[in-house]
Amino acid sequence: MNETEAVLDLAVQLAREAGAIQRERYETNFEIRTKSAAIDLVTEVDHACEKQIVDAVSKQRPDDAIVAEEGSGSDREGAEWRWIIDPLDGTTNYAHGYPRFCVSIGIEHRDERTVGVVYDPLLDELYCAVRGDGATLNGRKLQVSSEADFGRALIATGFAYDIRKSPEDNIDRFASVVKQARAIRRDGSAALDLCYVAAGRLDGFWELKLHPWDVAAGLLMVDEAGGRTSDLSGGRAPRTGHEVAASNGQLHDTLLEILGGR
Ligand code: IPD
Ligand code: CA
Ligand code: CA
Repeated sequence: MNETEAVLDLAVQLAREAGAIQRERYETNFEIRTKSAAIDLVTEVDHACEKQIVDAVSKQRPDDAIVAEEGSGSDREGAEWRWIIDPLDGTTNYAHGYPRFCVSIGIEHRDERTVGVVYDPLLDELYCAVRGDGATLNGRKLQVSSEADFGRALIATGFAYDIRKSPEDNIDRFASVVKQARAIRRDGSAALDLCYVAAGRLDGFWELKLHPWDVAAGLLMVDEAGGRTSDLSGGRAPRTGHEVAASNGQLHDTLLEILGGR
């Protein structure tokens, strides 16, 4: 087994373990707190999942850097391997008992997105991508949709937690897209939205003000399923996640035009 395969195997094991925690504690009486804003939630389960993953990576791969949303990882510039972890993507959904959330683990090798694993524990859907080797859903090869007509496209987006305060609120872009696409979804998990583009369930997705852990696995998934990812001007999708568009490729330029990035 080469090192990439070993990293993938470990990421799959840890995503399944964290997913099992989410499944077990779903709709139970867990503690919920707020973070950057009254609508930005974190639960005990987010922390439990992060601990499970970060402890295992630190123990089994002590030289690897770890960036984890709830802050328990330690990043190191120049690290050969970097784990970028969203222990529970879709926390608002989780807190409300809305069944759409996942674990997302993206891994960079020498700063390049190399492995992506996303696990939806309720549907038992495991998405994996390896750079240059394609993307799969429960072992089946993924391929983006072939839709070329924006009027027939299903597009997703999301809104940042500063929506009550920031004028950069994505509402104008939402209004433009909803009038031109077949339909639009805001389903509360950016990592799953990206996987759905990879799987051809969605034709496109965009969001602003995401974070590295929201997109580290999902962007690779879309690229490896034959789609296109970028910032809103058509440049490389930033690792920070601050501005991300993803599509089946055919609709990409139209999506960017409607979003007003070019
Ligand atoms: C959030 C989700 C949501 C997106 C937010 C993210 P979290 O992540 O991915 O869909 O719209 O911008 O912050 O807080 O549930 O991990
Ligand atoms: Ca997230
Ligand atoms: Ca999260």
